[in-house]
Amino acid sequence: MTQPSTPRPDAAEQPVCRRLVGRTAVVTGAGSGIGLATARRLAAEGAHVVCGDIDETAGKAAAEATGGLFVRVDVTDPDQVDALFRAAHDTYGSVDIAFNNAGISPPEDDSILETGLEAWKRVQEVNLTSVYLCCKAALPYMRRQGRGSIINTASFVAVMGAATSQISYTASKGGVLAMSRELGVQFAREGIRVNALCPGPVNTPLLQELFAKDPERAARRLVHIPAGRFADADEIAAAVAFLASDDASFVNATDFLVDGGIAGAYVTPL
Ligand SMILES: NC(=O)c1ccc[n+]([C@@H]2O[C@H](COP(=O)([O-])OP(=O)(O)OC[C@H]3O[C@@H](n4cnc5c(N)ncnc54)[C@H](O)[C@@H]3O)[C@@H](O)[C@H]2O)c1
Repeated sequence: MTQPSTPRPDAAEQPVCRRLVGRTAVVTGAGSGIGLATARRLAAEGAHVVCGDIDETAGKAAAEATGGLFVRVDVTDPDQVDALFRAAHDTYGSVDIAFNNAGISPPEDDSILETGLEAWKRVQEVNLTSVYLCCKAALPYMRRQGRGSIINTASFVAVMGAATSQISYTASKGGVLAMSRELGVQFAREGIRVNALCPGPVNTPLLQELFAKDPERAARRLVHIPAGRFADADEIAAAVAFLASDDASFVNATDFLVDGGIAGAYVTPL
């Protein structure tokens, strides 16, 4: 990461919003990365947070950090997904926000020339079928309330092509965009908004380790980012909190890019 980059504004100087007091938010993949940062942010804004994750240790830690509830869930299992949203409703009395975020990008998912059918199917299940199941489970509660915000995590790779392909991952995220758009249109008149979130690359420990070992690989990506740096997870979380809140009351059925300008770039600053 030798290129110049835009410094972040100091988060400590930002005013704390309390836009979600009394709302109940379900977050999948809450144990790590974007999900964890978002669970923290939603709790800081006053929401009751239900932390869903397949990893019990990480999920419990997230629930402790947010003062919320942990529910172990495999997001590919319909019964477990139903139980997750039921637990949110039974514990807190409503389901106002669903952040359907759990996802994987395993190394077996690579170029189409190398990727086998099993790897393809597994990624489709965890990244796309899970979003279908979570929306299907959340919508009945939201329809009864006449209110709700669903945010489904896609990725900037759903709107751009990469020569360093992860073919099933990219296709799954394209599916998330199309599904979210359609649901946003179908349920808008019932007070429910559905948006897809498209994060750019996030500065996770895994990514840092990978790129420390291979600086050429890091440079190959950083050169495309106008800001000259990857996102921090809490910058993605801030966008989710906005989409979850009434500040976004007219934001619906979008492909909401939080990518530091990558998708808009042709030539980037040196
Ligand atoms: N990190 C990035 O650069 C980036 C960029 C764009 C989009 N995304 C997307 O953001 C989402 C979160 O990514 P992250 O980087 O925070 O990932 P992460 O690996 O840090 O966290 C994912 C969490 O999901 C959980 N999980 C995995 N499979 C699950 C399952 N079957 N059921 C329940 N929980 C499961 C994991 O235990 C983990 O806690 C993913 O959908 C990912 O595709 C990430």
